[in-house]
Amino acid sequence: MHVCSCVCLAGAISIYSPQRSLIRSVQDDVIFSVNFTCSGIPNIQWTFMSGLVSRTIGAWQPGGYTNITEDYSSRVQAYDNGSMGLSDLRLQDGGFYVVTITESTGSSKDFGFVLKVNEVLYEDLQYLTVSFLALACLAGLLMLAMWLLDKAYKKIMACKRRREMPGKATCKQQNPSQ
Ligand SMILES: *[C@@H]1O[C@H](CO)[C@@H](O)[C@H](O)[C@H]1NC(C)=O
Ligand SMILES: *[C@@H]1O[C@H](CO)[C@@H](O)[C@H](O)[C@H]1NC(C)=O
Repeated sequence: MHVCSCVCLAGAISIYSPQRSLIRSVQDDVIFSVNFTCSGIPNIQWTFMSGLVSRTIGAWQPGGYTNITEDYSSRVQAYDNGSMGLSDLRLQDGGFYVVTITESTGSSKDFGFVLKVNEVLYEDLQYLTVSFLALACLAGLLMLAMWLLDKAYKKIMACKRRREMPGKATCKQQNPSQ
């Protein structure tokens, strides 16, 4: 708790979170859990950042208004302690999430989270299994073909040797007589 909490002397806003780095799978839900202390009723705003893109998710006031942008309105849950729930995660949701707490005096403080969204694993596993089986079959066929080729080659060589031997013998016998 003491590691994450931070007191800003100028604004006297303090934000705390039990976990700032989260990993979820596609279609999972996530709660960016925070709590804060400040004077008065603050304004809470959440922003999403990924690469160069920065998008406002929404803003609300504890016990007051809630304004979530259209893109997120069906998936976002706003909590009075500043936390935000995001449901039905997509791969594109991976990135940085920043909550900005602004006091009525105008002073504000940011607090960041990292969300990693993984693809659902079992589809990958199935694909890998099928690929592995296909490769194993191919390897088996190749080994069988090589074994057959090797056998055929040895047979041909043996035949050749058997055919050449009497020929050479006759050649050597014929040469002196010519
Ligand atoms: C904030 O409130 C939500 C909903 O009541 C709760 O699940 C969460 O644990 C709270 N977060 C903190 C850090 O207290
Ligand atoms: C809600 O947010 C949108 C976009 O951030 C803004 O244009 C609009 O004025 C806000 N509405 C209220 C009632 O705050």
